[in-house]
Amino acid sequence: MIRYIAPSLLSADFNNLGRDIEMVNQSEADWFHLDIMDGVFVPNMSYGFPVVEHIAKLAKKPLDVHLMIVDPDRYLERFKDAGANILTVHWEACTHLHRTIAEIKRLGMQAGVSLNPHTPVELLNEILPDLDMVLIMSVNPGFGGQSFIENSISKIERLRKMIDDKGCNTLIEVDGGVGPHNAGKLYQAGANVLVAGNAVFKADNPNEAIKIIKSS
Ligand code: DX5
Ligand code: ZN
Repeated sequence: MIRYIAPSLLSADFNNLGRDIEMVNQSEADWFHLDIMDGVFVPNMSYGFPVVEHIAKLAKKPLDVHLMIVDPDRYLERFKDAGANILTVHWEACTHLHRTIAEIKRLGMQAGVSLNPHTPVELLNEILPDLDMVLIMSVNPGFGGQSFIENSISKIERLRKMIDDKGCNTLIEVDGGVGPHNAGKLYQAGANVLVAGNAVFKADNPNEAIKIIKSS
């Protein structure tokens, strides 16, 4: 089973962003995780297109872009042009999710759907075969450095069973409060991709932290 790690640049040192991107390039990490917040869907703002374009110029690994924004349909093509490889929208932000997913794929990106902590995985039953990835939010989205919500484990297990029962290849990504203390448990529950912000960039040795999480 695929076991990836995607460091979240939200916790990087933006005064030394080039250095932190190069650290991820040289590490065992698989993807860059980019958090886009609009101050409406979540009570925080992060960064936009110019920053994503600059990251794309230096990054030597796929950009996994997590949109925490309302009405994401307006910007799908802009994110493709900015360099996104995997584009994830929130279930709670999309009225016509099937159309949004089809458009992400038509633009040549992999399509993901993210669920807030209160949203049950069972709501994905119809759309699951169309998804390249499901992102389980294990904190309420908006900020790095929050504590992992334990109920997320049972959501991962239930989603793993749904995916396996349907025989799909959909990846399960987990985001929020992930680190060496719970990475093994998450992979065991059926997760494929672990996002880690603070656990990587606030560690004494970020490169080593990536290695530890990935081999958990
Ligand atoms: C939170 C973001 C996360 C965040 C994770 O809304 O989606 O990607 O950067 O940060 P940590 O790993 O510190 O919880
Ligand atoms: Zn994220």
